[in-house]
Amino acid sequence: MFYKNIKWMPKLLIFGFLGTIHSGYCFETSTEYHAINDTQAEFVNEFVWKRYSKENDNPENFINTSQCHIPYVDPLSPEVGLATLANIMPLLTGHNESTAENICKPNQVGGYDQCNFIWKKFHTQHYKTAYAEDNTFISTFNYASPGFKEQPTDYYFRPMALAIEKTLNQTLRHGLTYCVGNRQYAEYVYDSGLRFAKRFQYQAHFGIFWTNSFSHNHYSLPATMDSTTLKYLRDMERVGYFDNAIVFFLSDHGKLFHPLDKLPEAFLEDRLPTFFISIPKWFHYTHPELIKNLETNCQRLTSPYDIYMTMQHLLKINQPYFDIEAATGCTRCQSLFEEVPENRTCLEAGIPVS
Ligand SMILES: *[C@@H]1O[C@H](CO)[C@@H](O)[C@H](O)[C@H]1NC(C)=O
Ligand SMILES: *[C@@H]1O[C@H](CO)[C@@H](O)[C@H](O)[C@H]1NC(C)=O
Ligand SMILES: *[C@@H]1O[C@H](CO)[C@@H](O)[C@H](O)[C@H]1NC(C)=O
Ligand SMILES: *[C@@H]1O[C@H](CO)[C@@H](O)[C@H](O)[C@H]1NC(C)=O
Ligand SMILES: *[C@@H]1O[C@H](CO)[C@@H](O)[C@H](O)[C@H]1NC(C)=O
Repeated sequence: MFYKNIKWMPKLLIFGFLGTIHSGYCFETSTEYHAINDTQAEFVNEFVWKRYSKENDNPENFINTSQCHIPYVDPLSPEVGLATLANIMPLLTGHNESTAENICKPNQVGGYDQCNFIWKKFHTQHYKTAYAEDNTFISTFNYASPGFKEQPTDYYFRPMALAIEKTLNQTLRHGLTYCVGNRQYAEYVYDSGLRFAKRFQYQAHFGIFWTNSFSHNHYSLPATMDSTTLKYLRDMERVGYFDNAIVFFLSDHGKLFHPLDKLPEAFLEDRLPTFFISIPKWFHYTHPELIKNLETNCQRLTSPYDIYMTMQHLLKINQPYFDIEAATGCTRCQSLFEEVPENRTCLEAGIPVS
């Protein structure tokens, strides 16, 4: 097979959102829309529809999610830092919230610097690393926290974010800075992502590009970024980036504040964040069993701990001596490239049961 001869220089980019209504869930496999009237429909993204209809068609696939509890609180309350950590720390450290607080000590200067973030593992394996995030005030590691003392990754966007917020005019939408100067704030983050991707296209690299500005506070705002986001993805496609890199496109939780909150489905929307994965075509030929498992898992109950394990799995594919560490918050959680049991429970996925 032609593809077998390619030596892969591993690359992984994560584009993440603080909450979003774009909740895709194997969305291409169902075209049936469910009956909700137009008044409600205008608020709902097409992807959400498809997902709901899929689940409603196969209720037995839907493993007691109604009992699972994904913790979050109002973003405008003082608790927000912790709420974000509840979902992000499992993904980036494998720790649950309380362990993350004990080990990473978000409230202490230098606390986060001691924390075993996944990018450190990539760095140790000689990857170039990057972290970028908009909205410095509420950003993941700085809200109600002194943040990092040392620069956490090879490329770190925060000083740039602070500088543009200070020198350019800001326009708020729904309580968050949406424009900085004459651009959408997220564009600066995506620009840095694109530059990072192009600069290291032929070297091992790992980057996280996280945005808060358009996806969190209001249900109508994410759609305003659709064409811009597409433009960046097209740009990456044009330079052949997706031929050679794995890209995660995800959010930490679903949409929390929207007029559909009162519908029963809103419960699901809150708890089923977006998660798309792009994988190079040749990887399907060299690792068909991994792709098969991933596709199967699309219909299984999974959690951020699994993503943590998946990233380590990717590290190990090219570095056989790399030691995968179990997620402390969910020791039974596993790579999404390995089949997740169909009857997995919330607790087995590391999701608290309310
Ligand atoms: C559509 O749903 C809204 C909100 O639940 C309700 O107020 C309205 O009466 C419904 N309209 C129709 C035509 O069923
Ligand atoms: C889901 O929970 C209900 C109520 O606790 C229980 O009866 C049912 O067996 C559970 N289903 C699965 C698939 O675990
Ligand atoms: C910011 O806005 C003010 C008031 O509209 C304007 O006078 C100023 O020139 C703007 N600054 C920049 C850097 O665009
Ligand atoms: C967090 O994980 C630790 C093990 O690392 C466990 O002892 C603790 O009970 C967990 N906390 C919660 C709230 O689940
Ligand atoms: C899931 O299925 C496996 C194999 O059939 C079984 O051993 C296990 O006990 C089941 N787990 C639960 C939680 O039902």
